[in-house]
Amino acid sequence: MELFERPAGGERALLVHVLRGNEADQEDLDEFIELARSAGADVRGVVSASRQIPDPRYFVGSGKAEEVRDAVAAGEIELVIVNHTLSPSQERNLERLLQCRVLDRTGLILDIFAQRARSHEGKLQVELAQLRHLSTRLVRGWTHLERQRGGSIGLRGPGETQLELDRRLIAGRIQQLQRRIDKVHQQRLESRKGRDRAEVPTVSLVGYTNAGKSTLFNRLTAADVYAADQLFATLDTTLRRGRLPCGRDVVYADTVGFIRHLPHELVTAFRSTLEEARDAGLLLHVIDAAGPERERCIADVEAVLTDIGALSVPRLDVYNKIDLLADCPARVDRDAEGRPVRVWVSARTGAGIALLIDAIRERVEPSMQEGHLRLSASEGRLRAKLFAEGAVVAEELDEEGGWRLHLRLPRVRLEQLASSEPGLKERLKD
Ligand code: GTP
Repeated sequence: MELFERPAGGERALLVHVLRGNEADQEDLDEFIELARSAGADVRGVVSASRQIPDPRYFVGSGKAEEVRDAVAAGEIELVIVNHTLSPSQERNLERLLQCRVLDRTGLILDIFAQRARSHEGKLQVELAQLRHLSTRLVRGWTHLERQRGGSIGLRGPGETQLELDRRLIAGRIQQLQRRIDKVHQQRLESRKGRDRAEVPTVSLVGYTNAGKSTLFNRLTAADVYAADQLFATLDTTLRRGRLPCGRDVVYADTVGFIRHLPHELVTAFRSTLEEARDAGLLLHVIDAAGPERERCIADVEAVLTDIGALSVPRLDVYNKIDLLADCPARVDRDAEGRPVRVWVSARTGAGIALLIDAIRERVEPSMQEGHLRLSASEGRLRAKLFAEGAVVAEELDEEGGWRLHLRLPRVRLEQLASSEPGLKERLKD
């Protein structure tokens, strides 16, 4: 058992971490400790166990369970958190043995979500996920009791009636929540449709939890969104309008932070936040450039993006926290076509933010070409084509019966037109 320095406040907690025997063990443990602290636990120590197949009774072996019991007694531990999903009976058996509260990984993450949820939809989703988690436990607890007593008429005790009632109440509440979430979700879709019609692109910030999304979101929108040095400071998408220097409006969306091994039931519960990322015009993948697990976090986020079908959305990688790196000035990296693909910034100091906004503009706004073109009287067909293209900003007649056109069109369209109209590009003058 390793011991840690004692932070002030919080429930005295002991963590139980089962090693899987691979190189990610230490990182998983670090994240687990961080999660527990995020939930407000006063982490007093960690008991590690190596186990491939969970023990049906305690999840860990009985020898290990006794070691945990001794540590609980010695450290006056109030809460034991296990870094895995426990079955309801494992949780119950452990509580009985350890004589203190036991929380599994899903319960821990739910607790953090519950503390952090701020928007209406976020709160509804957390409550739904909590009730779902609870209902499996209650239902199983009840069937277990029923089996014990044989379920015969006349033997049904008040306990079971209460459980049955709780179960029905929970089922009703789940339905009600689901309806409300669907409604909020529908509203979200409607407002997105409105934005699509107005051609306001959404720029979604995604990234591993604690990468600095909220801080960057604040910088980009100069809004006051809660940022804290705790995991999951944001639970749900926060939308805010921003204006690029070219005058174009965009909507910035701050999303829930990704986390490794997010229990599947929670991924489902937070689907609508993830959907927002899938429909974005541009994804900003915010990366903690100074994080020790940088590459792994990038891979984790990319795996989730693949999962939700967001891999094809144009993406700009934002390497944040360069103030923590030695000799790392703000800069933009471009791909072979000259498009910005990676921007190095510090959301905290503001370094590189102007570069980032420019890069966003370049990626959101197709690169435009502007110029003047003289057409002779015999070029009416080309003139009609340019009008059809929506490329003509203004036009004047000239003395010879031709036209002088002021054009503005996406560079790629100009290239395409030039392939059927040789010399067009060369004739375009400022
Ligand atoms: P979740 O909401 O948990 O997903 O986190 P997030 O990605 O929104 O991170 P948040 O903006 O809350 O920032 C996490 C921590 O990193 C906070 O303590 C920030 O002050 C800090 N932080 C953010 N950007 C920078 C930066 O550029 N440099 C440094 N040194 N710290 C930063």
